[in-house]
Amino acid sequence: MVLCQNVFKEFKAGTSFVAVNNVSLHVKTGEFVSIIGKSGSGKSTLLNLIGLIDKPTSGNIFIDGIDSSNMVESQLARIRCEKLGYIFQSFYLDHNYSVYKNVEIPLLIANMPSNKRRERVETCLEQVGMLNKLHSKTSTLSGGEKQRVCIARALANNPSLLLADEPCGNLDSENTQVIMEIFQVLNQKGVTIIMVTHDIEDAKKANRIITMKDGKIISDEN
Ligand SMILES: Nc1ncnc2c1ncn2[C@@H]1O[C@H](COP(=O)(O)OP(=O)(O)OP(=O)(O)O)[C@@H](O)[C@H]1O
Ligand SMILES: [Mg+2]
Repeated sequence: MVLCQNVFKEFKAGTSFVAVNNVSLHVKTGEFVSIIGKSGSGKSTLLNLIGLIDKPTSGNIFIDGIDSSNMVESQLARIRCEKLGYIFQSFYLDHNYSVYKNVEIPLLIANMPSNKRRERVETCLEQVGMLNKLHSKTSTLSGGEKQRVCIARALANNPSLLLADEPCGNLDSENTQVIMEIFQVLNQKGVTIIMVTHDIEDAKKANRIITMKDGKIISDEN
């Protein structure tokens, strides 16, 4: 599903900094992988590279066998839309819109016909237990509810790969448990998941734990 070959990411803001340093990684279809490591170790940077949100300085990233290296932005956008789902700690929900509209946005981008969109939005919200808040503005939701709407939005286009950057970072233990259970159910349904987390107990819910330090993978355990 994901293959990284000798991936480097160097940031050149004044002084140069190598945030991802020669990472090679193979994540197979159906795996649930956690990435842990200290703050600044390069976890989010690596996830953004895998998610085709950012480009490596060197090295190759294949998604589903497709080499992303020489793709132009429109090709990358298409893969993001068709294959990937993203969940970020900082939500990135549009608070001017309802729950419904936020989850509908990826379907609009994918040009899904309007008669199918409603059913798809409802299915996704039902999966995360948020169907009852369909018409609420996202600004009125609790932190855990917002995060569940983010998951519903990430699921909208039926992604084969779900990328989550500290999906439970802001949440209490009860909401964390709800979200980890949703992830486990999705994984059982065949969705490949890569999740960055600070919490070792959450990391253990995955079948594989990768530890990063100073931009490198220092351990990779099943
Ligand atoms: N756009 C950027 N420009 C310059 N440096 C950056 C940029 N993005 C990240 N970095 C640096 O790269 C390093 C890795 O950052 P990254 O966000 O990947 O860490 P992280 O492991 O996700 O940390 P955290 O657990 O705190 O989220 C950090 O030292 C950070 O300052
Ligand atoms: Mg991070």
